[in-house]
Amino acid sequence: MKLADNKATLSFSNGSPSVEMPVYQGSLGPDVIDIRKLYAQTGKFTYDPGFLSTAACQSAITYIDGDKGELLYRGYPIEELATGCDFLETCHLLLYGELPNAEGKKKFSRLVSMHTMVNEQMQFFLRGFRRDAHPMAIMTGLVGALSAFYHDSTDINNPQHRDISAIRLIAKMPTLVAMAYKYTVGQPYMYPRNDLSYAGNFLHMMFATPCEDYKVSPVLERAVDRIFTLHADHEQNASTSTVRLCGSSGTNPFAAIAAGVACLWGPAHGGANEACLNMLEDIQKMGGVSKVGEFMEKVKDKNSGVKLMGFGHRVYKNYDPRAKLMQETCKEVLAELGLENDPLFKLAMALEKIALEDEYFVSRKLYPNVDFYSGIVQRAIGIPVPLFTAVFALARTVGWIAQLNEMIGDPEYKIGRPRQLFTGSVRREVQPLAKR
Ligand code: CMC
Repeated sequence: MKLADNKATLSFSNGSPSVEMPVYQGSLGPDVIDIRKLYAQTGKFTYDPGFLSTAACQSAITYIDGDKGELLYRGYPIEELATGCDFLETCHLLLYGELPNAEGKKKFSRLVSMHTMVNEQMQFFLRGFRRDAHPMAIMTGLVGALSAFYHDSTDINNPQHRDISAIRLIAKMPTLVAMAYKYTVGQPYMYPRNDLSYAGNFLHMMFATPCEDYKVSPVLERAVDRIFTLHADHEQNASTSTVRLCGSSGTNPFAAIAAGVACLWGPAHGGANEACLNMLEDIQKMGGVSKVGEFMEKVKDKNSGVKLMGFGHRVYKNYDPRAKLMQETCKEVLAELGLENDPLFKLAMALEKIALEDEYFVSRKLYPNVDFYSGIVQRAIGIPVPLFTAVFALARTVGWIAQLNEMIGDPEYKIGRPRQLFTGSVRREVQPLAKR
């Protein structure tokens, strides 16, 4: 972050003295006005619900240009990472700043695979849940519970603890998601297989049983790896900001990541892939492609409360680059499984076509986001709809932990404490019960 050669001046129409504020430049993206001293200088706060114009931190991890539809992890375009690297290379990049060389990749993969098992007690903890519990309810519990199992890595101010908890989280998330799934279907848990790739091992833990051999399909393995890579980080989104805010109190990394899982669950964020697939299934039940026009009218009617799930994004005002890659994967997976005529895929294509030409969507710059196609891919692979967001959480864990560790290492970091514009009652006296 370096000082720009201009300053910002804030003046008031009531004659209060104006104040000058420093302006900083990043390596990419808009300059930021430093308002940290504003309250001390003016006695006033800024008002920005939803953080529409507020940079809450400096970060060197992920950059999004929403107008161009560009996503860079540590400077590398997502398209090149998704096609030229695997998820663990991407994890290495996000965590340590650089892609590994061949030796580094081997070492990192080995390190992660040494931590894929979870404490055997975890299954008893899991057993406390109802079999029909939502996987995200289970995941918030399991991830939070990791801090009760790994006492030796809970000091967020200790760099070694941060390092080992990062690896533990990345390594154990697939195991926990697969355990949550196996629990709901009543099948035995499958232990991780460290000879498989990260994505291959996840497929094995999800779909293998002790009764027969399970062969990982390379196409599905690649698809899962791509889902992970595309969801690995997305700068200061709601769940990442939650992790940072939670971690800013000095809480342990497992607790901070559990907070991120909870935030991700919402349908406006990670829950959108589940909501999107449910929406496609509802339209299908209504009559499918022939009902698309009718459905779109409801979406455009502000009183209906219906949104086109998987469309729109706070930052992207252009095609989400991840959606393009996911659409490619979607076609590959459906072809591999002989599902080219999948009615939900056809429906999604029809919805997308209409939305991209419709004035309502065009004028608001609403484009498909990553979740529009990721649900179809996951469903085709056999991942049940309620588990979609848990898969997103698994993939985003590396981003959360990289951002958390970046924050703790930042000398400017402070506990997060937003301010408010108070609009409630002014001071008043409590009346005795008989007089109220
Ligand atoms: N369907 C219909 N109208 C929409 C949609 C949509 N999916 N998204 C936005 N709009 C309208 C919105 O009603 C508003 O219209 P107007 O200006 O007339 O009031 C306008 O577009 C601007 O929307 P906004 O709500 O101010 O935008 P936002 O930045 O606050 O919300 C969003 C972004 C992602 C929450 C929203 O687009 C949405 O709810 N999309 C559907 C859910 C979804 O797919 N979420 C996944 C996001 S990507 C995965 C992730 O990173 O978590």
